[in-house]
Amino acid sequence: MFSTKSFFACMALPTFVCALSSKVGNRAPSVCMEAVTLDATKNIWLNYTLHPQDVYRTHYLAAANLINDAEQKERALRVADSGTFLWLESEGDIPKIDQAVKDVPCGNILGLVINGLSHAGCDEATGRTPWQKRDSTHYIENIIMPIAERIKNYNTTAFALIIEPDILPFVVRNPYHKECLQAQSAYRTNTPQAIKALDIPNAITYLDAKHGGWFGWNPSRTNYDPKDVARELTATWQAAGSTSLTQFRGISVNIRSYNSWDMVPGETFTDENAIFFQSD
Ligand SMILES: *[C@@H]1O[C@H](CO)[C@@H](O)[C@H](O)[C@H]1NC(C)=O
Ligand SMILES: *[C@@H]1O[C@H](CO)[C@@H](O)[C@H](O)[C@H]1NC(C)=O
Repeated sequence: MFSTKSFFACMALPTFVCALSSKVGNRAPSVCMEAVTLDATKNIWLNYTLHPQDVYRTHYLAAANLINDAEQKERALRVADSGTFLWLESEGDIPKIDQAVKDVPCGNILGLVINGLSHAGCDEATGRTPWQKRDSTHYIENIIMPIAERIKNYNTTAFALIIEPDILPFVVRNPYHKECLQAQSAYRTNTPQAIKALDIPNAITYLDAKHGGWFGWNPSRTNYDPKDVARELTATWQAAGSTSLTQFRGISVNIRSYNSWDMVPGETFTDENAIFFQSD
């Protein structure tokens, strides 16, 4: 949906530019020039479209260009025009924001998933070691502050932020895994600070709540009280300033590698079928 602002911006441009902007692969630059303030008490998705950001879009377009079959190619190009959140998990990822803001029109919102908090000390405890350990000591300083600075600076861009420290399950079941004390303390110190630092007028924030299994929609899956997750999230929100936060919108679930809400049949991922069936 177009906001009034972008509608007039489009009207002011020559017709061919507007026509081009709706064509895949030929996106016209129609960057928003007005300062944005988002009202987190409302459902901003009614007025904003998730931006098909250029960082991933470039890859989709390159891949689509390798397809010879016209119908398949068109489908691939449609993916390039679908909105996606940009995943940020290291200091090196942060400059991607500079690329992604370059072509966001007033009616679009740029989505960022902010990962990057350490799981140090927990990987071994669960017998799963594919995740990279990170030093969480400087998470706020090295990850959150440079992102917050950019969001403030890019005040003509609307942002939707998912704060996804990625260690919530370990934090919550810490009584079962004493090795996770370090992760628990990193989460409880850093996450509220991150929510507070990202409480910026042109952004709305969501705190990640992992997936339906952890959130208690599949009680047979876990051996802890699912209410603990809700309690942990509430405590995080309170430590961040609770009602003094103006841009906090709520929680997010199923951010990566989990089922889509509305696909029939649903997607299946290793070990996650139960999650799909629960939410179906
Ligand atoms: C969406 O925009 C319309 C028109 O600008 C406005 O009246 C309405 O309140 C907005 N809705 C939300 C949820 O922000
Ligand atoms: C927006 O940010 C610019 C710097 O990028 C600053 O000069 C300007 O005052 C800001 N405007 C508002 C309304 O905050």
